[in-house]
Amino acid sequence: MMQKESPVLNMAGRTFLITGIADQASLAMSVAQTLEIAGARLVVAGLGRTEHHRNLSEKSTAFLDRTFQGMQEAVQAGLSSDVTSYAVDLSLDASIDDMCKALAHSGVRFDGVLHSVAMDKTIRGGTAVPLLETTREEFLSAMDVSAYSLLALTRSMLSAGLLNKGASIIALSYLGAERVMHHPYRNIGVAKAALERMARELAQELGVSDNIRVNAVRFSPYTGSKAGGAIPGLQEAVERCERESPLGNAKASDLAELCAFLFAAGHGITGQILHVDGGYSIRG
Ligand SMILES: NC(=O)c1ccc[n+]([C@@H]2O[C@H](COP(=O)([O-])OP(=O)(O)OC[C@H]3O[C@@H](n4cnc5c(N)ncnc54)[C@H](O)[C@@H]3O)[C@@H](O)[C@H]2O)c1
Repeated sequence: MMQKESPVLNMAGRTFLITGIADQASLAMSVAQTLEIAGARLVVAGLGRTEHHRNLSEKSTAFLDRTFQGMQEAVQAGLSSDVTSYAVDLSLDASIDDMCKALAHSGVRFDGVLHSVAMDKTIRGGTAVPLLETTREEFLSAMDVSAYSLLALTRSMLSAGLLNKGASIIALSYLGAERVMHHPYRNIGVAKAALERMARELAQELGVSDNIRVNAVRFSPYTGSKAGGAIPGLQEAVERCERESPLGNAKASDLAELCAFLFAAGHGITGQILHVDGGYSIRG
């Protein structure tokens, strides 16, 4: 990739763990590229098959392998060649712990983590199940992957000694954590609410113990990614928000710049739910 110079931030000597790259269009990829331009070193953790996956069907095996391969191809094409990547399933503690042990063994330590992961089984085949019809399993799995994973990853990194004092953790979220949107954002909206509440609680605990900051950033609707493209009605939301936001929709690069700021500086900022949405969230 062509390296440009970041106009503002110098991240030389800082290292970040990036989750949630599925392909070139992933929001996490924009954040990763912005961090690299500023001089940061990156490690990437993407969903893939691990020894902790048991009794996988052929379909699940193929899905995990395809997902990890897609991530590796995107990293090769979009980031520098010295980025190392790990396969992990953030819904499996043993998989997270294994990755953290391997990272600790390699001697790397992190100045920040991007949590850019979400999954909701009630969104399928272009429709979304009403909340009332959401099963316990669908509810718990969305909570697990989209919210609890922040806690599980943070805990495992801390206990492996991977997070530097003063590190910064960012979780990506959406206005649908708080509001009933015009498009269905039901089960996943509840999980995002938990994610944001968790970010605040962790900000208190980790700020006191390790001077670590934890923030959540809500972004405009975005259909470019796999996750965004699967949400029914999101294209209409993109159009509505483009029309109604004072600045129009924010771009992935706008999100990346705020994340880079929160990673590099922003030392007095923690426990916040910030919006990069062209101002849509101020509208009634
Ligand atoms: N697309 C939008 O409109 C939008 C808006 C605001 C916030 N967000 C949030 O941004 C984040 C990234 O989404 P995106 O739009 O870039 O889509 P994406 O599909 O590129 O990213 C979602 C990522 O989650 C990963 N993932 C799912 N289950 C996992 C697991 N068990 N373990 C590890 N990784 C797992 C996927 O592999 C993928 O890389 C998500 O948290 C999403 O909710 C998206």
